[in-house]
Amino acid sequence: TVQDSSAPAPPIIRKKITSHVGFSSLPNQVRRKSVKEGFQLTVMVVGESGLGKSTLINTLFNSPVCAPRAAERPRTVAIENIEADIEENGVRLRLNVVDTPGFGDFVNNEDSWNPIIQNIEQRFEAYLSQENQIRRTRMHDTRVHACIYFIQPTGQSLKEIDIELMRRLHDRVNLIPVIAKADTMSQDDVADFKERILSDLEFNGIQIFQAPVYEDDDEESIAEADAVSRAIPFAVVGSTRVVRTASGRLVRGRAYPWGFVEVDNPEHCDFVLLRQMLVRTNLEELRAYTNQFLYERWRSVTLLARGVVQDESAFMESDPTERLREERLIHEAKLAKMEGVMKQVFQEKVEMQEKKLKQSEVELYARHKEIKDGLDRQWAQLIEKKNRLTGL
Ligand code: GTP
Repeated sequence: TVQDSSAPAPPIIRKKITSHVGFSSLPNQVRRKSVKEGFQLTVMVVGESGLGKSTLINTLFNSPVCAPRAAERPRTVAIENIEADIEENGVRLRLNVVDTPGFGDFVNNEDSWNPIIQNIEQRFEAYLSQENQIRRTRMHDTRVHACIYFIQPTGQSLKEIDIELMRRLHDRVNLIPVIAKADTMSQDDVADFKERILSDLEFNGIQIFQAPVYEDDDEESIAEADAVSRAIPFAVVGSTRVVRTASGRLVRGRAYPWGFVEVDNPEHCDFVLLRQMLVRTNLEELRAYTNQFLYERWRSVTLLARGVVQDESAFMESDPTERLREERLIHEAKLAKMEGVMKQVFQEKVEMQEKKLKQSEVELYARHKEIKDGLDRQWAQLIEKKNRLTGL
């Protein structure tokens, strides 16, 4: 369905975050680009009520980006848009979080997921209308690049409501399923549950984001991409609370009578892998896949429905992985060029500063001379006065 782009956009809450997130350790290429332009990512969180969506976002960005929900939950789905500017070691990330308050406690769940689908399409629509403008110098991209879908840690088959909603989401967003509150399950149960979820998704024809592994990458990157890809659906634990472990370490986690679950410990849960995937390993792929595949498909269908005929055969036939690879090469070439320009700008700035310093050195010398001459004159006058007085 085509949405009304004139519908009022949800209010944006802007925040500035200074705490450590971890994206300044991005691969050099992405970092260089980011230093110049800053980069931007839109993440939507979806799932039943109370599964820890807001808590996970706060954990992910190590700041209270999402306010805690009031005890009395609203009966309608009110989508919240939070924009956070995160700056770390000179790298700027504009993060948009689309928090969708939980569903599942409604009589008619269609009413709760329709606004979510509409919100995703409105963002496509906003991008399309920018593309149609004559001057398109700076496109404002608010499209959802990743949708984290929270699954209740039941250990059983996926619920009908999850299947229904994910079916509606998977061809509009990069779907990243996560097992919520994984600390409530044993590690063996988590492993079994992951397999069950993957087979349920496959059976229902639901496509999730496939983190690609590029064989021409260096060994470390391949291992990292492989670990991320094998951990999906990520078993996550959210907490911004710092607890002291038995050995006295201070960690973010959840304390239980029998011990601690550490959020940032990959042996305890997949939180670190999820964060790594979003802001490091697959940031570019998430953005590229959204732009080149999900958006393009929506755009073709929408334009065709509006009677705009265009040649889509080439797009439909081309292999998305191949397109991503091509895009990557072009991107690398762009970065190399950008680096050259940055070096030149840097050189010019250094030269300008040197010139300024020389200039102020000359001015300083002239001022010094002026003061010294003045003092010399005063000295001569005093001597003359003294001579006159002693002569009397
Ligand atoms: P809605 O806004 O209703 O959709 O809720 P939500 O999904 O945003 O959940 P929220 O983050 O408000 O968390 C609900 C409750 O679950 C809070 O009491 C959290 O402390 C708790 N919680 C969040 N994450 C975890 C987790 O990983 N493990 C456990 N055990 N509890 C969690």
